[in-house]
Amino acid sequence: MYVPSLYVKLHGVAIFLMPSGMLGTLLSLIDVIPLFSNTIWGQDANLAFLQKHMGASFNKRSQPWAANIHKEDVHSGDFLALSKIRGRWGGFQTLEKWVTGAFAGHTAVCLKDENGTLWVAESGYENKKGEEVIAIVPWDEWWGVALKDDSNPQVALLPLHPDVRSRFNESAAWEFARSMYGKPYGYHNMIFSWIDTMSENYPPPLDANLVMAAMSMWTRLQPHYASNMWNEALNKRLGTEQLDLHGIISETERRGMSFNQLLTIPEQDEWEYSDGKSTTCVAFILAMYKAAGVFAPFTESIQVTEFTIRDAYMLRIFEDNRTRLPGWCNGDADGLPFCQILGEYKMELPEYNTIQPYANMNENCPSSPPTYDRPLRC
Ligand SMILES: *[C@@H]1O[C@H](CO)[C@@H](O)[C@H](O)[C@H]1NC(C)=O
Ligand SMILES: *[C@@H]1O[C@H](CO)[C@@H](O)[C@H](O)[C@H]1NC(C)=O
Ligand SMILES: *[C@@H]1O[C@H](CO)[C@@H](O)[C@H](O)[C@H]1NC(C)=O
Repeated sequence: MYVPSLYVKLHGVAIFLMPSGMLGTLLSLIDVIPLFSNTIWGQDANLAFLQKHMGASFNKRSQPWAANIHKEDVHSGDFLALSKIRGRWGGFQTLEKWVTGAFAGHTAVCLKDENGTLWVAESGYENKKGEEVIAIVPWDEWWGVALKDDSNPQVALLPLHPDVRSRFNESAAWEFARSMYGKPYGYHNMIFSWIDTMSENYPPPLDANLVMAAMSMWTRLQPHYASNMWNEALNKRLGTEQLDLHGIISETERRGMSFNQLLTIPEQDEWEYSDGKSTTCVAFILAMYKAAGVFAPFTESIQVTEFTIRDAYMLRIFEDNRTRLPGWCNGDADGLPFCQILGEYKMELPEYNTIQPYANMNENCPSSPPTYDRPLRC
């Protein structure tokens, strides 16, 4: 049990101090619970939440809702943005989207091997044991799973710009992907990509407590990954090892820092956790891009764990000429600047393909709903 004063004092990290606050947390979750329901009602709750809090539209797409993909038109480095809208994953993604301002909740990346076979590399692939890991699976298998997925995923393929593709070092990308293969999804650093500036990253009206509580609920559903989710990352920020939360709090205070300040220290890509380097779905892809030379000449001054999914699709590295998108994308019919391959609703990726990479990008960006205004060069 933890004392209430500590609970109040720590605001956004109240989750750390569960279980004494459990009851209040559960009560405040009642609003959010329908988001997790795997029914039409649950899906409607997700759409309504995203419309209300993010200004999302959900216009229907033209048929076919599943593209007839020609694999020869897909290339190494092409980005996959997924948006799940019902069930457990749908609800979780909805909260994550709202917090980060991203209109997609998950990502994966395409890779071709030397024989021309198409693969999908993904951090957060659910293996047979139900664990979230980094996997490289044949395209057909991945696509088959997406087609059967009861979270009703909307999926967009974002092809790299031909200039970027021409400098994409495929063997370096494969080398990186293989080095990460089988490692667990990066829960350690997930949250830090969006806690950049001290107060502006917590969306009203529900505050960070609730988001943390939802994540706590999530980690209860996936307890295997939960136990050490935060402590290790916080220890890294202090340069300490193995302090528990109380130790972390007193060490932070001893140094005259607030807990919020501790949370805003940027993650470093070279930090290694007890279960290996930690990468979320999008950090995995961007780290691969970094290895493959996509960010040259800023490679060394980009910390990919600072990027949210939104930051990734805003990068100006994707195809910007709709007439060069493959015909099977149906881009003209839907008027989309990218290639949506699955889903009944048009995906929206506001400010898609607009920001040239620059040194230290995204290390100091606030993100507040409903507009999520991004200052230049934050
Ligand atoms: C490519 O094909 C050759 C010959 O079938 C095979 O030996 C090799 O393992 C294949 N490479 C990959 C990456 O699958
Ligand atoms: C591509 O990456 C491989 C493996 O890291 C490296 O050996 C090779 O020199 C790189 N090629 C170019 C053109 O940079
Ligand atoms: C777009 O691509 C088409 C076909 O390659 C080309 O004819 C056209 O000039 C391009 N448009 C722009 C604005 O680059």
